[in-house]
Amino acid sequence: MLHRPDLAAGPPKSYALAKDLQNCIAPAAEAFCLPPQCYAEEAVLQAEIETFFRRKWIGIGHSGRFKAAGDYEALEVGGVPLIVIRGKDGVLRAFANSCRHRGARLLDGEGNCRNIRCPFHSWGYKLDGRLIGVPHMEDAAGFDKADYGLTAFRAAELGGFAFVCLNDATPSLSEEFGNFAKIHSPWPLNNLVPTRRHSFEVRCNWKSFLDVFNEYYHLPYVHRDSIDGVYNRPEVASPARGAYASQFGATDGTGGLLEHQQDHALPAMSGLEDAASKGVRYTWLFPNMTFAAASDSLWIYEANPIDARSCRVTQTICFPQEVTEWPDFEARAKHYYHRLDAAIAEDIPVLENQQRGLNSPFAVQGRFSPHLEANVAAFAKWYAGEMLAADHALSNAATMASGASS
Ligand code: FES
Ligand SMILES: [Fe+2]
Repeated sequence: MLHRPDLAAGPPKSYALAKDLQNCIAPAAEAFCLPPQCYAEEAVLQAEIETFFRRKWIGIGHSGRFKAAGDYEALEVGGVPLIVIRGKDGVLRAFANSCRHRGARLLDGEGNCRNIRCPFHSWGYKLDGRLIGVPHMEDAAGFDKADYGLTAFRAAELGGFAFVCLNDATPSLSEEFGNFAKIHSPWPLNNLVPTRRHSFEVRCNWKSFLDVFNEYYHLPYVHRDSIDGVYNRPEVASPARGAYASQFGATDGTGGLLEHQQDHALPAMSGLEDAASKGVRYTWLFPNMTFAAASDSLWIYEANPIDARSCRVTQTICFPQEVTEWPDFEARAKHYYHRLDAAIAEDIPVLENQQRGLNSPFAVQGRFSPHLEANVAAFAKWYAGEMLAADHALSNAATMASGASS
């Protein structure tokens, strides 16, 4: 039967959303795709910010860029300005990027600093967040510097990746990502060095970008002359325990190069086992970070919402330390950068076109090709479960209405 929303009834209501999300909680062969409203409506994005971006571990790329004490990056997670910075004790920390005096943003961009000094009235903080320098505060009654350290959030590292979490009650990173370390143990992820990192905007929902990166289905149609010939049919999805999905697929040559540039291939990472060195592992750390671990390189994408219909994507590519020290490394790496840029240039028009279709009030949820969209189905299942369980306005309204209508 043709499933078509009744336009006269107005935009899709939360009760329908709850029912549609339930349809995603099933094995890939039976599950429905996420409801189109989840890719197009601001109310859903607000619920996602509460459920995911302010509550879960949010991936911020490879931790190799925070190498030395004082290496920092100012970024935003769930609309909250943060500083992520490596301490003198080697610990990676996250702080609110808001001065404890009158709230000014303390740092911008990325770099290295010995202390954190506010550009407004020069309050100074140590790398561990303690307030150390405060000019002209002698007359402030009862003022104790020890009470005015930076507001701290959780930061942690796992397998060479860095994460922050705004919620103290969320389980630890290793609990959240279960057997991630075991599944990825063949790759020396910790020893890789990020050599290029840049951000760009895509006019699609943040989840669509992560979806397309994780599925093999579109390769022959979208990447026919660029990379499709490199990829074989993937293996069955890996038995991931925790908030991630992963699927390995064999390749002819390296997934890091275009099919007609394979003669520029770099050697496999040292210590990589035979099977792992002949393919690419595609992994999605829910909700917002995904990567491909190839034999010779690793490329990572973080996708963060700008609004419901556009996102900011940050791409990082990493190589083994020893390869980055080769005199001709930059020339060799260019071919890898070119392959990523070429694939993204093919994906973006498809994503922006998909977004226009998803925006339609007549868009309804579809079905997955179970094997070729295994990671996408696993994410949809996790997302739906979390959204339905979360205590936010959308799920409260959804649950009540769905109870009333059944
Ligand atoms: S706002 Fe930072 S020192 Fe005044
Ligand atoms: Fe693609």
